[in-house]
Amino acid sequence: SRRITVHDITAAKERGEKWPMLTAYDAMTASVFDEAGIPVMLVGDSMGNCHLGYETTVPVTLDEMTMLSAAVVRGTKRALIVGDLPFGSYQEGPVQALRSAMRLVKDAGVGAVKLEGGERSHGQIELLVRSGIPVMGHIGLTPQSVNTLGYRVQGRGEEAAQQLLRDAKAVQDAGAFAVVLELVPAELAAEVTGLLHIPTIGIGAGVDTDAQVLVYTDMAGLTPGKAPRFSKKYVDLRRALGDAAREFADEVTAGTFPQAEHTFH
Ligand code: KIV
Ligand code: NA
Repeated sequence: SRRITVHDITAAKERGEKWPMLTAYDAMTASVFDEAGIPVMLVGDSMGNCHLGYETTVPVTLDEMTMLSAAVVRGTKRALIVGDLPFGSYQEGPVQALRSAMRLVKDAGVGAVKLEGGERSHGQIELLVRSGIPVMGHIGLTPQSVNTLGYRVQGRGEEAAQQLLRDAKAVQDAGAFAVVLELVPAELAAEVTGLLHIPTIGIGAGVDTDAQVLVYTDMAGLTPGKAPRFSKKYVDLRRALGDAAREFADEVTAGTFPQAEHTFH
């Protein structure tokens, strides 16, 4: 069985099919999602906060993205793997973006890359697509701009809504095959989804986008504390894993692990 391609993704919109995307940061977790039939996995730079212990996505490097993207590619057979271009790896312009994207494509083996920004990233998206690299856009709340935007709902009010519509059109016109809408009002996300022929992937953008993405550590309950309001905790792995660790510790202390079946003579 071959991998899912960007053409399968655009065809799904023509058929009116909704689809899920999850982030993944390592081969083992990615193999679980691949076996579960998740068609698209994003090696998000959310690995910065969710996996590598940074406070934001800002410090994530292209080397880190390349290493973990390669692991996710190795752990999967079927899913389309999308690698995030980290902050600082494409802002200088299209040529820098192409050089960075080439590392994710050639060294890690991703099938597509994602980068943040609408109108401001038009030139980068255009050169990548012309060079043969499929691009997923990302507009609305763009976490790499946390220092200017903060973390709050984008596109509220007439002026901001018009800018979001321009950004969505710019991403599509530059040749992107899909676009993430993060933290935008549901009504505006629905309008963008109706306007574009490429699929929209929502996170905190209501139910009317063509696809939905969740950060896997949020949906798996690994993130400490409450999941963000736009997310949903489908399982409490943090509790399950903590309980397993405590049980192991108790058994070691009590001298009840290992038992005969774990022992060689
Ligand atoms: O890095 C990430 O996880 C993302 C998704 C939230 C879209 O960019
Ligand atoms: Na990201």
